[in-house]
Amino acid sequence: MMNACVSKQPENETGSIDQQVDALLSKMTIEEKVGQMNQYNGFYDATGPAPSEGGAKIKYEHLRKGMVGSFLNVRGAEQVRALQKIAVEETRLGIPLIFGLDVIHGHKTLAPIPLGEAASWDLEAIRQSARMAAVEASAIGINWTFAPMVDISRDARWGRVMEGAGEDPYLGAKIGVARVKGFQGDDLAANNTIAACAKHFAGYGFAEAGRDYNTVDVGTSTLYNIIFPPFKAAIQEADVKTVMNAFNILNGVPATGSTFLQRDILKDEWGFEGFVLSDWGSVMEMIPHGFAADLNEAAMHAANAGSDMDMESHAYVNHLVDLVKEGKVSEDKIDDAVRRILKVKYELGLFDDPYRYCDEAREKEMLYHEDHQKTVLDMARKSIVLLKNEGAILPFAKAQKKIAVIGALADDKTSPLGSWRIGSDDGTAFSVLEGLKEKTSNFTYAKGADVVTGDVNFVLELNENTTDKSGFNEAIRLAKASEVVVMVLGEHGFHSGEARSRTNIGLPGVQQELLEEVYKVNKNVVLVLMNGRPLALPWAADNIPAIVETWQLGSQTGNAIADVLFGEYNPSGKLPMSFPRSVGQCPIYYNKYSTGRPVNVEGNVFWSHYIDESNDPLFAFGHGLSYTDFEYADLKIDDSDPSGIKVSVVVKNNGKVAGEEVTQLYIHDKVASVARPIKELKGFEKFMLEPGSSKTVSFTLSNAELGFYDNQGEFIVEPGMFDVMVGTSSIKGLTGSFELK
Ligand code: GLC
Repeated sequence: MMNACVSKQPENETGSIDQQVDALLSKMTIEEKVGQMNQYNGFYDATGPAPSEGGAKIKYEHLRKGMVGSFLNVRGAEQVRALQKIAVEETRLGIPLIFGLDVIHGHKTLAPIPLGEAASWDLEAIRQSARMAAVEASAIGINWTFAPMVDISRDARWGRVMEGAGEDPYLGAKIGVARVKGFQGDDLAANNTIAACAKHFAGYGFAEAGRDYNTVDVGTSTLYNIIFPPFKAAIQEADVKTVMNAFNILNGVPATGSTFLQRDILKDEWGFEGFVLSDWGSVMEMIPHGFAADLNEAAMHAANAGSDMDMESHAYVNHLVDLVKEGKVSEDKIDDAVRRILKVKYELGLFDDPYRYCDEAREKEMLYHEDHQKTVLDMARKSIVLLKNEGAILPFAKAQKKIAVIGALADDKTSPLGSWRIGSDDGTAFSVLEGLKEKTSNFTYAKGADVVTGDVNFVLELNENTTDKSGFNEAIRLAKASEVVVMVLGEHGFHSGEARSRTNIGLPGVQQELLEEVYKVNKNVVLVLMNGRPLALPWAADNIPAIVETWQLGSQTGNAIADVLFGEYNPSGKLPMSFPRSVGQCPIYYNKYSTGRPVNVEGNVFWSHYIDESNDPLFAFGHGLSYTDFEYADLKIDDSDPSGIKVSVVVKNNGKVAGEEVTQLYIHDKVASVARPIKELKGFEKFMLEPGSSKTVSFTLSNAELGFYDNQGEFIVEPGMFDVMVGTSSIKGLTGSFELK
């Protein structure tokens, strides 16, 4: 239930929020100002390498002295109230704290991982999912989430691809806006809305070799045309209240110390009025980056570059006052940072009522609410992508003959919650077996093999991937005795996520061997994948008749998968990220450049290719099948209207069941002053079509879609020829062209 409690931020008699902020700022000492710029980790899980001197004692001392502006990882209305009480009642000015938490895809009730949600291409469902997350997070006293992550990434080796919206800036921007609007709602002062945080600014998703926290070195065109757009949209289209910076260097400068990123682009060029939070320890990490000699210098660089709040480096709280007194950081810069922080606190209503988010009764009522389960079930079903369905082995008929279910993940109630389940509870996902039991009793189950051995948790490496094949024989026996086999294989929840990069992006452990052994005795195999990143599965793609991509679907995993397997929901998802044939192809993405040798023109080897692998992905960006068949016809391009190029196509449902289609529009600017990608997504529409019905899908290509950023960062539109493709994926559709005059 999205309780409709709203409370408009009253214009206080002392004027606007800006006037109230200025009035408060004028009373603050430099120590109190710096205090607002200091964020401490609470007393729960550390989500990063905690500094050694960060014990609770010093944090309470600083809190009572007004030297703390925010906490993260404090959960529960009671805990939040206790800390807020100290800030409000025991400090000189009583400035309330703001409480942040990683509410990435839900809090207790979990939606699919963000990459899974992105596969739905359903912006309203994604907004609703974030809304639900905000209702639960705010119920435990949280008023700020460190989401959405809007980092574009093209490299499946990087564990954090699970947290974003994939490889495309247009889709990523639309989804980022939907998530921010879901979190922040229409009234930020209401007790069920929370401030959002676009992260990680900028370029974090381009970590070299897909290794987390690694160097980022990208060109201007990639920075402006691929990396920046989702951040700019979150700010200018959704008014995101905070931005979190990134761990990486960009052109040799750590993002945290980058005046170019945080002041020139974010605050000056884009007009960002919220505040910048450093990522965990990123101020301190300028020392190992070789950009600061010590914490004092790191604090100076970060404050001068526009990092407004320091998460857990303990740099500002220990050095910033002296840096101001020494004239190394101007108090004007401190005032700007503090204004931004105080403004968000006022907008959240925290000065009106610091305990607005501390309602134990609401906490009990809202967590795991049945309405939230319905929201995440809808989101989960829409996130599932049907990658292959040869011979229409799916959907199963209700009176389906005997099914063998094989794979440890089929009985796993925790991995499907994903790696960012910091607020939820292990064992709370509906498993595949539980979902199937709702549909049929005519199935047997064998684990076949574990995914990993031993226990794992958020801050530890996964133990060894299992090598134990002792369960194979039982699995093979059941497969032999059944008409069809559902194999649920993939990654453990902690095979992806932060600090979980992999060099091998196949099925972990002995799952691939299990799949091949089962296939030897029964060819009717449906492979259900549970994973946090694109996987390289060429053998399965060649041999297995049906493959269903289910990501990690959150609390309603089993019910959503069962609904799709039995046809109660016709899958409608489309890949937000290319699936490689092999890890050697990474990074691989659809919106690539042509290169000077894109094809083999003379039957020789001197063209851009591999001698041992195709250039093409295993499954393309935008790919996703349905239980029905959509036919595209009648592409029309009209360049007569000054408001933009009108493109339309007729889509018909030629099948026997209703289904949702995502019609996608791509352009190619064929010749430009900066080489342009061979294909760029510039429009999509998701819609339902009943059997036999048709729909005309129309798009308008304006300058916003046809232009690009040049190498001076200027947005330009150039006349010339454009190719257009409108279809069901980035590799299948009707083509045409037009000349932009
Ligand atoms: C982590 C992540 C960031 C997260 C923060 C707080 O290191 O990089 O995305 O929000 O720390 O947990």
